[in-house]
Amino acid sequence: MAEVNLSLLRRRLLNWYRRNRRDLPWRRSRDPYAIWISETMLQQTQVKTVLPYYARFVAAFPTLQTLASAPLPRVLGLWSGLGYYRRAENLHKAARRIVAQHGGTLPRDYDLLRALPGIGAYTAGALLSIAFDEKYPAVDGNVRRVFNRLFHTNGEAAVRKIAGKLAQTSQPGNLNQALMELGATVCTPKEPRCGDCPVTSHCRSRDRLGQRQSAQQRPRVNFRDVTWPLAIVNYHGKILLRRRQADGLLAKLWELPGVEIAPMAKPEAAIRKELKPLAVAGPPPTRLGELRHSITNRRIHAPVLLYRWPLTKSLPAGWRWILPSQLHRYATSSMTSKAVKLFIEHEKSPI
Ligand code: ADE
Repeated sequence: MAEVNLSLLRRRLLNWYRRNRRDLPWRRSRDPYAIWISETMLQQTQVKTVLPYYARFVAAFPTLQTLASAPLPRVLGLWSGLGYYRRAENLHKAARRIVAQHGGTLPRDYDLLRALPGIGAYTAGALLSIAFDEKYPAVDGNVRRVFNRLFHTNGEAAVRKIAGKLAQTSQPGNLNQALMELGATVCTPKEPRCGDCPVTSHCRSRDRLGQRQSAQQRPRVNFRDVTWPLAIVNYHGKILLRRRQADGLLAKLWELPGVEIAPMAKPEAAIRKELKPLAVAGPPPTRLGELRHSITNRRIHAPVLLYRWPLTKSLPAGWRWILPSQLHRYATSSMTSKAVKLFIEHEKSPI
């Protein structure tokens, strides 16, 4: 985990969130009380379920004082149907205590918040970061899943450590909500949409996730040995990438031109076919080596072929020249990154 580029990761998450955030009523407010209500309702409950309850609740109790002075049965009545009623009891009890002990405003302090009924580590972190711009993480189930996949961990200590580091930004509230939003809308439990993820190129699970099914549904995997030659087409320091189609294996990821071939087929002939849309040809390729890689049920042997070809100006749609050093900006399968690494090594000491 040492080599994770945290500032790049934060920047990508924040940019993505700015463009993709859902317009939710509690996101229009900077009122710590309103944010507290929303975060409490959102525990174990989906956004679309919470929306009408949140609207009714803050209309009935627009301030912490109005909640504190309301009778408990009225509060429970407005919570009716949302489930986990302890949350409503605790909210009410905490509101009364805040009036009695903190002058009616939510304290901007982790330990004081944690001492209130119903406020655990998640809610304290969410409140401090979203309402007060304090640099605290907020790890709920969605965020935990995102971290487990991104860093390929499942230990709570590792998650907490990385979450704490990531929160060290000038926009901790947006960063935490970016992670929640990513987990809720892209990095979903089943069938995550890795092609739409702003941080796939950082993700240590990306190849495993493309065609994921839940553990119960997952059939026994019978591995198939396949050959999948890859082409590095190199011209003036640049190499060619193309984008995979929107469905199927590794959907929408960028890759080196390549293809799975039949057991007896010739890699060079198969690659020639893949490069046909470029409408050029040149000297035969050099073989840089062979990679091993697994995706879903394929155990891949990938011969990597280097083509030094002169190239035409125009490229077909979905193809792009890039510098090898720019690869991290693209969501790629790790087979492609491994092959590009091999190429970079080769270029340092070409034979
Ligand atoms: N789930 C928990 N907190 C959330 C928030 N602030 N926005 C959307 N979903 C959430």
